[in-house]
Amino acid sequence: MEYDWEHRVNTTSGTVGWRERLLGVFHSAYQPTDPAAFREMMAALPILFDQFTFVDLGSGKGRTLLLASEYPFRRVVGVELLPALHRVAQENLASYKSEAQKCFALEAVCCDATDFSFPAEPMVLYLFNPLPESGLRRVMANLERSLRAHPRAVYVLYHNPVLEHVLSESAAALTKRDGTHQYSIYAFTKDSPRSG
Ligand SMILES: C[S@@+](CC[C@H](N)C(=O)[O-])C[C@H]1O[C@@H](n2cnc3c(N)ncnc32)[C@H](O)[C@@H]1O
Repeated sequence: MEYDWEHRVNTTSGTVGWRERLLGVFHSAYQPTDPAAFREMMAALPILFDQFTFVDLGSGKGRTLLLASEYPFRRVVGVELLPALHRVAQENLASYKSEAQKCFALEAVCCDATDFSFPAEPMVLYLFNPLPESGLRRVMANLERSLRAHPRAVYVLYHNPVLEHVLSESAAALTKRDGTHQYSIYAFTKDSPRSG
């Protein structure tokens, strides 16, 4: 609520409609990332932000897209399954104003994260429990194919990593770089085994 009040946006879960709540039971319920936790995770990333694209799979009302725009990312992309949440995200992107904003290339896409084609750019992939295990496995298989076709630096920031074994078992050859009980950071970089 504080974040929404400060920035005149609508990103809380409190105002999510009954239909989206019900769908959340079958997919993954909308819950926005806490701003302080997000900034802590960003501080742990060993990257030059202006060389990376930020992608949030399961971006809901888009709070992380607004938070990510405080960093000089090349661009910021959110992918959300539910049209009603996606529409709110678009409104938030359009109305957001902050003196802290450093990235202005913000985009919200409405599609199933398991069908999303990753941009062939250095990327920070943000996951806050958007998918059940089968869906996360499909996303990791897509990422593996994308890295094979376009080897590049990719960091996966997994917030509340309840299915972390899916990342560590993935053929995408990700290496765990950092983490706390709240998040894990995995990386595919030029030092990774398959990147040559
Ligand atoms: C825990 S919320 C995270 C919201 C946002 N990433 C954040 O951190 O503020 C998970 C989101 O994933 C979305 N979601 C669930 N299944 C999805 C799918 N297959 N593709 C894209 N989004 C999905 C839900 O609708 C929900 O908005």
